[in-house]
Amino acid sequence: MPSNVSVIVGTQWGDEGKGKIVDLLAESKDYVVRFQGGNNAGHTIVVNGKKYPLHLIPSGVLNPKANCVIANGVIIDLEVLVSEIEMFTKDGVKLAGRLFISDRCHLILPYHKALDLAYENARGKGKLGTTGRGIGPAYSDKASYNGIRIYELKNWDLFVEKFKFQTKIKNEILKTFKVTPININKELEKISELRKIVLPFVTDTFQLLQKAVAQKKNILMEGAQAVMLDLDFSPYPYSTGSNTIPGMVNTGAGIPIQKIGDILGVVKAYTSRVGSGPFPTELTDKLGAELQQKGAEFGTTTGRTRRVGWLDLEAVKFACEVSGVTEIAITKIDILSGLKKIKICVGYELPPSVIARSPERSRRMTKQPNKIPYSSCGYVELEKLTPIYKEFSGWKEDIMKVKNFKDLPKNCQDYIKFIEKFLGIPIKLISTGPKREEYISI
Ligand code: GDP
Ligand code: IMO
Ligand code: MG
Repeated sequence: MPSNVSVIVGTQWGDEGKGKIVDLLAESKDYVVRFQGGNNAGHTIVVNGKKYPLHLIPSGVLNPKANCVIANGVIIDLEVLVSEIEMFTKDGVKLAGRLFISDRCHLILPYHKALDLAYENARGKGKLGTTGRGIGPAYSDKASYNGIRIYELKNWDLFVEKFKFQTKIKNEILKTFKVTPININKELEKISELRKIVLPFVTDTFQLLQKAVAQKKNILMEGAQAVMLDLDFSPYPYSTGSNTIPGMVNTGAGIPIQKIGDILGVVKAYTSRVGSGPFPTELTDKLGAELQQKGAEFGTTTGRTRRVGWLDLEAVKFACEVSGVTEIAITKIDILSGLKKIKICVGYELPPSVIARSPERSRRMTKQPNKIPYSSCGYVELEKLTPIYKEFSGWKEDIMKVKNFKDLPKNCQDYIKFIEKFLGIPIKLISTGPKREEYISI
């Protein structure tokens, strides 16, 4: 029986255009659910000429029939959430009765943000390039039993007690970094105002989603970040604080794994990443700068310039395998129009001098002495390897208005067909522009 729960997952380093795809697919959904990450995510949707950068509220919000759920795996910065609620309320988008926030969500508190920045400063040249939103510190507090759930805001006296206890400890740590300590009373005043706006949306989303699954409602799970940033499957420590692969749907929303049906992997037609860390196909030349400008590759969350490079199918193949991707959406193919030659990375080669993390296994698997699969690479190998490229001829035409695959330039068709064949997964959707209506359905 076909399942009614589908998942969207980013197959690269984030910013693949997941938000746009979610908004597009949400038209036929009863629920759109965020299940991991926090406001490190920045999902852009462009509807009726207006651009919305979303950090916490699911990207289905502009489809009035879709209910929006922020499930337990998400960590919440109250200020960011309230500013999104206010933005939509001002725009006349109804949220009451259709935005549901899990009572189990952990809070990102002021000391998490201060610690995130303090650690980054202390790392100096070795900084990771986090978004500075307190993600790592908040998830570590959750895992070390020092977190505070959003539910606790209902019992103010108890919340104050816990907040004071945690802030005092964190202020001691901040002191060692020579960072101004958190002003407990000032922050409590702010939180006491924010909680009044947020608490009406807080509920038991587990019950809500169980019922929705049983009633065969159409549910779309909106992944944030991407596989290459997954806490376990990234080249750690160049990671984010949560698991980003579809398995997280179970722990992050309470939906059993056997209920999951389609898993749509979003693949940007080239690669981008924000922050530090290895990037085998990075273009640091004039062409890279052109792609950055043309693709408007500036972070939705932090405004940082995104690093860009050729499509890395060795990495994407791994992302699809670990995520169980069943279909693909290609995005930003329009940005490649006008390039004379386009390259795709189809494998990695390691210089003989570098000892891979698991050389025997990788050599056995590939039967070639120096080839190494993505899964056997740590960040050291990823920094030292040489990508193996296949070159394609480009196309000149503007393709943003094209609605049928057969009307795409032949070279563009060949580029897309190659991706499909290499991954062995059907391409169902091709996004040709940022606006909701700019896509080709296959
Ligand atoms: P997400 O984090 O995966 O949701 O992606 P972001 O929203 O951070 O970044 C993707 C950017 O590309 C946004 O500015 C989108 O509006 C834009 N975008 C999405 N799909 C396309 C596309 O097919 N073509 C173009 N030109 N822009 C796109
Ligand atoms: P969306 O959902 C791109 C990156 C940061 C940094 C690393 C760790 O919009 O695709 P963190 O603040 O999470 O501790 O930072 O992860 N990162 C993202 N990069 N898109 C994202 O989300 C990201 N979320 C985190 O830049 O390298
Ligand atoms: Mg983004």
